[in-house]
Amino acid sequence: MILKGANNREMGTVTVIDHPLVQHKLALLRDKNTGPKEFRELVDEISTLMAYEVTRDLPLEEVEIETPMQKTRVKMLKGKKIGVVPILRAGLGMLDGVLKLIPAAKVGHIGIYRDPDTFEPVEYYCKMPTDVDERELIVIDPMLATGGSASAAISFVKERNPKGIKLMCLIAAPEGVERIQKDHPDVDIFTASVDERLDENAYIIPGLGDAGDRLYGTK
Ligand code: PRP
Ligand code: URA
Repeated sequence: MILKGANNREMGTVTVIDHPLVQHKLALLRDKNTGPKEFRELVDEISTLMAYEVTRDLPLEEVEIETPMQKTRVKMLKGKKIGVVPILRAGLGMLDGVLKLIPAAKVGHIGIYRDPDTFEPVEYYCKMPTDVDERELIVIDPMLATGGSASAAISFVKERNPKGIKLMCLIAAPEGVERIQKDHPDVDIFTASVDERLDENAYIIPGLGDAGDRLYGTK
């Protein structure tokens, strides 16, 4: 389901991946009784399913192969280079799920946490592949709340001139979507849900709580 800006490059699109398997697994993920082991497994599975949709526009080319019966022309990926960029920590939980479908992708890491008082992003780590300028990047983070962390991460990677950037999250707040569309109108967003709102602590409502803490069993 594409919500906004479908044909308008002045604003990135927001695609809500409403596949029943994604929605079912997201419901389990939200449940407060889901423990870290199951939570990690669900994030991994949802990320794989979402990566299928996020890569839907990868270009194909016709090549000739030989089946046991005869020569034939088939479609294969054109060899577009992809980079996956998890925002640490919680984005790491999505990485393996995405790499299952795009195993040749290179991985860049960006460490950002949200200051608990100001909600402003604080950057603490960045290590990117050297050839980012030849790659389409998929930035991954389960939660798009105020959008501050994702916006900062995208600004960071833009300095290395990637060929394009997509943002993939599991749950977005309307405020976060608006922030990315304003700061980075060239970036399309893929999410499994756009939730109701942020609360006074800038947590997503209904959301799933703190993604990093639930993934890693911290508090
Ligand atoms: C969470 C989440 C995002 C950020 C979203 O990370 O994984 O990175 O908050 O909030 P925002 O859209 O308002 O910036 P957190 O700061 O909890 O760090 P962690 O992943 O290391 O736990
Ligand atoms: N970070 C999270 O992990 N969850 C939220 O709801 C907001 C920010």
